[in-house]
Amino acid sequence: MALKVAVLGCGVVGTEVVRRIHDGRAELAERVGAPLELVGIAVRHPEQDRGLDVDPDLWTDDALGLVERDDVDIVVELLGGLEPARSLVVTAMARGASVVSANKALLAAHGPQLHATAAHHGVDLLYEAAVAAAVPVLGPLRDSLCGDRIARITGVVNGTTNYILDQMTRTGGDYAAALSEAIDRGYAEADPSADVEGTDAAAKAVILASLAFHTWPDPARVHQEGITGVTAQDVADARACGRVVKLVALLEQTCESDGSRQVLARVQPTMVDRRHPLADVSGADNAVLVEAHAAGLLLFTGAGAGGLPTSGPVLGDLVTAARRRLQGRFQSGPLARRAPAGPIGTHTDRGLRSRHHLRIPIQDLTAAQAAVSVVLARANIAITSIRTTVDARALLILTADTEETTLRHTLGELAALPSVSAMPRSLPLLDAHEDQ
Ligand SMILES: NC(=O)c1ccc[n+]([C@@H]2O[C@H](COP(=O)([O-])OP(=O)(O)OC[C@H]3O[C@@H](n4cnc5c(N)ncnc54)[C@H](OP(=O)(O)O)[C@@H]3O)[C@@H](O)[C@H]2O)c1
Repeated sequence: MALKVAVLGCGVVGTEVVRRIHDGRAELAERVGAPLELVGIAVRHPEQDRGLDVDPDLWTDDALGLVERDDVDIVVELLGGLEPARSLVVTAMARGASVVSANKALLAAHGPQLHATAAHHGVDLLYEAAVAAAVPVLGPLRDSLCGDRIARITGVVNGTTNYILDQMTRTGGDYAAALSEAIDRGYAEADPSADVEGTDAAAKAVILASLAFHTWPDPARVHQEGITGVTAQDVADARACGRVVKLVALLEQTCESDGSRQVLARVQPTMVDRRHPLADVSGADNAVLVEAHAAGLLLFTGAGAGGLPTSGPVLGDLVTAARRRLQGRFQSGPLARRAPAGPIGTHTDRGLRSRHHLRIPIQDLTAAQAAVSVVLARANIAITSIRTTVDARALLILTADTEETTLRHTLGELAALPSVSAMPRSLPLLDAHEDQ
């Protein structure tokens, strides 16, 4: 008996998914153990030609009508955004359908509730493509590594920003030029705000944390900085100290003095050591480095965007959901837990910490060196290296591990010094692992 599949959305990803379900039907039937039958494709403009050789009767603009059918086995949600995606997915599950999605915004905002709904109705909710597109990292975290203890995850998980920063690094140009090139070449959308402001990467960080640390951090408490403020000078400064600027998502679990655990999640432009594996992630590629207690360092890398690459894990989830349906087995349970994540500097003993690169614009070298050293020493910020720019107009400092709130406060104090000419600039550092 065929398993009935409804697809919501047929844009960049949906078009490839529908094409592969249609063209690969014989192979998919073999992998699943039963044929997959497309029963409907919901889009906003059903009349639009999408170059797909499917039955014209499948197209509809009535997504709700499609998910309300009670003969649909699996709904593949490729709409994007929160609504109507959330209500359609909930309706589908309530009608007994398993759901496959690539929607990170939806999962980050409503993951626990959606998992609870899936468990309640005894259906699957799978979303491998929601993080790092083609790169299979959620499955390994959920299954292969669930007996291990994850210490830290660092990742370059947004292809658009990586393309822009890569472009700035290669050309020495500024952010605006690199963004406009990314838009022209189709690597950035006309409205790139979710990517360049770090929202997309923060959503992926939440999903990664949920699987790595078995709890969903509150998305509002992920520290999020985008790349809109990254300058050509930052990129040049990074190069001068053997680094490259990347938008890095970093997730850690801390153990507090009272025994409680906190998940610290942040997305920030970061100066990454050239010897670190994330430094080599180029163009629109993504990479996720997992540091596990037993398994050690694991690097997952590959295409972070695009219709065809993203269709890979969507089809993989579809086959998995279909096989499980045939066997009457579903995923459930602990994926529905939401716990607070620590914001910067509160609810946790240590807050967000890292080494930093500081560029401090100065008027008078001798006076500035002395005054800056005093301010940093008073704030307990240790200097590991200090240089002066060739024109003696700025001090370039690398600090030891420093708490973010302390650093921000101290930057304000530095700016107020008579020998400092403008607000200092700081970027966190990601160092190469000693054992790599
Ligand atoms: N693009 C990527 O590289 C990529 C990578 C990983 C994950 N994802 C995720 O995959 C999902 C889809 O992304 P995409 O790039 O394929 O998006 P897209 O190109 O914008 O396509 C969205 C599709 O949804 C349809 N749609 C939107 N609202 C609708 C509504 N209310 N009712 C019916 N149909 C509606 C649109 O219909 P019309 O075509 O008629 O307008 C379109 O076909 C998103 O969650 C995204 O985050 C994308």
